[in-house]
Formats: sequence, C-alpha cells, structure tokens
Amino acid sequence: MLKTSFLRSPREGEASLDIATDAGIATLAAELIGSRRTVLPKRLGTPGPDAAQQQIILEAAASAPDHGQLLPWRFVVVPMSARAALGEVFAEALIERDPDATTDQCEQAREKAQRAPWLLLLVVDGACGDPAVDLLERVVSAGCAVQNLLLMATALGFGSALTSGKALSSRCLKRLFGLRERERALCFVSIGTVLSVKPGRVRPDVADFVSTLGDAPTSQF
Ligand SMILES: Cc1cc2nc3c(=O)[nH]c(=O)nc-3n(C[C@H](O)[C@H](O)[C@H](O)COP(=O)(O)O)c2cc1C
Repeated sequence: MLKTSFLRSPREGEASLDIATDAGIATLAAELIGSRRTVLPKRLGTPGPDAAQQQIILEAAASAPDHGQLLPWRFVVVPMSARAALGEVFAEALIERDPDATTDQCEQAREKAQRAPWLLLLVVDGACGDPAVDLLERVVSAGCAVQNLLLMATALGFGSALTSGKALSSRCLKRLFGLRERERALCFVSIGTVLSVKPGRVRPDVADFVSTLGDAPTSQF
C-alpha cells in the first residue's frame, strides 16, 4: 500500500507549480514508476505505438532536466526499412572484435536488429553549447529523457527495454547513423506489445542507496 500522507495542499500565497498535488496523482505516478520494467526486445511484438502514440512518448522526453538547455541528446528512429542495414552493422561489429565469429553468430547478430516494432537509438552530444556542462551532466539529462520516454510507453500499455552492447561504439554503427565526432551512441530503446514476461527484479530498498552526510566513514580524499 502506498503512503500518501506526506502530501499537502499548497499554502496560501505559495507559488503554484501548476501540478495537481492530490493523493490520486501521486499514487498513479508511484504505480506507473513501479510498474515500468525491462521487457527485452525478443519479447516485444506488434503492434508498436502508432504515430499519435509515438508523438506522445517522444514529447515526454522533452521534459527532462537539461542544464543550460543545450539539448545534448537526440533519438534516431530505426524504421523497419533500415533494420537490415542495422543488422549488417551488428554483424560487422561482431567480426571487427572477433574475426573468428561463426556464420551462425553473425546471423544471430543480424536478427537482433529485427526485434521490436519501434526501435530508437539514443545519442548524446558531448560538446554542443556550453563546455562547462560536462559529459556526465549531459548523460544524466539523456538518462532522464529516456526514462520519461519509457514511463510514457508504460503508461500507454507498451513494454520497453534499453539495450547496449559493444556495437554501439563501433565505427560502422557511427557511420550508419551519421554520428559526429563529439557524439556517442548511448543505448537502443525498444518499444512494443508485450508478448511474454519474466518475473520482475527485486527493487533495492531506499536504505541501499541513501545515506546521510556525516554518517559515512571518513573520506580518503
Ligand atoms: C543504458 C542501459 C543499457 C542497458 N542495456 C541492456 C542490455 O544490453 N541487455 C539487457 O538485458 N539489459 C540492458 N539494460 C537493462 C537493465 O538490465 C535493466 O534495467 C535492469 O536489469 C533492471 O531491470 P528493470 O529495468 O526491469 O528494472 C540496460 C539498461 C540501461 C540503463
């Protein structure tokens, strides 16, 4: 059961954030966030989101925090017509790092590009705009953007997954996507109808990732 007793109404004279602060919204948000889970691309089938749903999902990314409004990330949609080319890149990247890869392994690599009806690549720009905003901040912003996108996909009833892999840093992938020198491919985003699910993972407790300044052991720095 969710605890919503922490919620309060805005006090008189308090600036409004223009958001609903009732318990229903918080409960909904907590349920949505808690229900998002990875459904790997091999478990995602058609239909994927239609054009209107894709727009809603992508708009969610625009609400990510973005220091300096640099928009240091972008998504590249990989339509079905481009999946064969992506499959070739996966196979080429495999051979690049393992020249002894078998024909079967190359075929498996190609097949991975065919999964999930809606596939996007998330790219971060490490140098656009203000150089004071370093790569870590840009990647955090990209992470927030993609989480928004995953949550909206979940809210619309779709399964989703992020996948990475060594091909992301291969020259052939950078060439296919026309990445600039300063850009890095972060991960693929797969979205589609859930065909089957595995049991979800156990989430960490708050105590596992929160501490209080002063309680921790003395720093070595
Ligand atoms: C940037 C990024 C890349 C990921 N790449 C992979 C991947 O290549 N293969 C995979 O099985 N999961 C991948 N994951 C998903 C994690 O394994 C998954 O989020 C984790 O197991 C927690 O499960 P949950 O998403 O269901 O909470 C990736 C997650 C992130 C954030």
